[in-house]
Amino acid sequence: MRILVIGSGGREHALAWKIAQSKLCDKLFCAPGNGGISRVAECVGIAHDDVSGLLEFAVKERIDLTVVGPEQALAAGIVDEFERAGKKIFGPHKSAAQLEASKVFSKELMAKYNVPTAGFKVFDDPEEAKRYIRKNGVPCVVKADGLAAGKGVVVAQTVAEAEEAVASMMQKKVFGDAGKRVIIEECLSGQEASILVVTDSRHALPLASAQDHKRVFDGDRGGNTGGMGAYSPAPAVTEAVLKEIMDTVVCRTIRGLSEEGIAYRGVLYAGIMLTPQGPRVLEFNVRFGDPETQAILPRLKTDLVEIMLATCSGRLSDIGTLKWDSRACVCVVCASGGYPGPYTRDKEITGLDDAEALEGVVVFHAGTVLRGETGHYLTSGGRVLGVTGMGATIKEAIKETYNAVSKISFEGMHCRKDIGRRALDL
Ligand code: AMP
Ligand code: GLY
Repeated sequence: MRILVIGSGGREHALAWKIAQSKLCDKLFCAPGNGGISRVAECVGIAHDDVSGLLEFAVKERIDLTVVGPEQALAAGIVDEFERAGKKIFGPHKSAAQLEASKVFSKELMAKYNVPTAGFKVFDDPEEAKRYIRKNGVPCVVKADGLAAGKGVVVAQTVAEAEEAVASMMQKKVFGDAGKRVIIEECLSGQEASILVVTDSRHALPLASAQDHKRVFDGDRGGNTGGMGAYSPAPAVTEAVLKEIMDTVVCRTIRGLSEEGIAYRGVLYAGIMLTPQGPRVLEFNVRFGDPETQAILPRLKTDLVEIMLATCSGRLSDIGTLKWDSRACVCVVCASGGYPGPYTRDKEITGLDDAEALEGVVVFHAGTVLRGETGHYLTSGGRVLGVTGMGATIKEAIKETYNAVSKISFEGMHCRKDIGRRALDL
């Protein structure tokens, strides 16, 4: 088969790396890809959200299966466009992608179908939102309705902070139309976990559990990032907890969507807070998580392309259960100087070969370019690498991964030193 992966981050490198191992894959493309991805796929210079350009390419190159990484194209309806043109594509339709593209849609669906989540109220008037905050007090969580590149959530500890979040989203419009409406939510506490399932809307198979680390500094301090690392499995997600999440979150959501006339096909990602009262949904994403995917896919033993094809054709129940490597996997993100603020780029990366020579280590590239003449990689993004290692336990995987990280350097590189440590406290 001829397969196209859309996107350019560590998640897409992990997807392309896994897909390239499938016996069903004869030729792999990635649009636009990055330096590291070009080792496993032919990278083509089409932006991840250029829906018509991507479709034109898929038709011209007789692509048999397209796999979408990031959310923007899904929210714009790339799956609907491809299917109209008779092209097979893995991901949810535009109507289903609202689950991520509109938090109001997602919260209202959860409320209607009794999916456990934080209590909430929707506002389209900033003054009303601020009055509500002053009356109800803090902590509270202010969320922009639309897509805000993972930055549209403020967990406010003071009334001033919450009001400022409302002002910046609704009045200063820092996220444009995405902040026209906001949600003010009850603040939950507990361990977080990411549960990703593949579903064809009739059947849902959970992937291995994972947990990411959103804050930039050790001990979960500093600003939010796209994710500084992840580990899988998440020990807090016991079999009983997973069953509860499948029953009360995943099945109710997929069934609820069906009742609304929306058949969800693709990956559904539930960000969960494990509260003393049980699992509660923090958010849904309609795609693979990044960096979670980099910690999950190295453990997957079932053929990913078979899973995706079965999902596209509504035959997911034929797959049975997914098979996993029992070892744990840890992914540590190496980021550019300055990230998550304005960051440096074009720095030469050294030590990649030494790191990858270690048993069980794979280095996924999130923001690199390959300098043709020398074969060296240069940094080109905020998150540069996802260094991924396996071990019999999380503790061993942490050791292997940080050993690999120690081989790698580029000017300004920083990474968290405590990825996975949270799992050891349980
Ligand atoms: P989201 O993008 O909705 O996952 O939110 C980003 C992060 O904000 C989550 O990973 C949580 O750490 C935090 N968060 C979101 N919603 C809540 C909530 N209701 N209570 C406490 N923390 C939250
Ligand atoms: N790791 C969080 C996300 O993919 O949105």
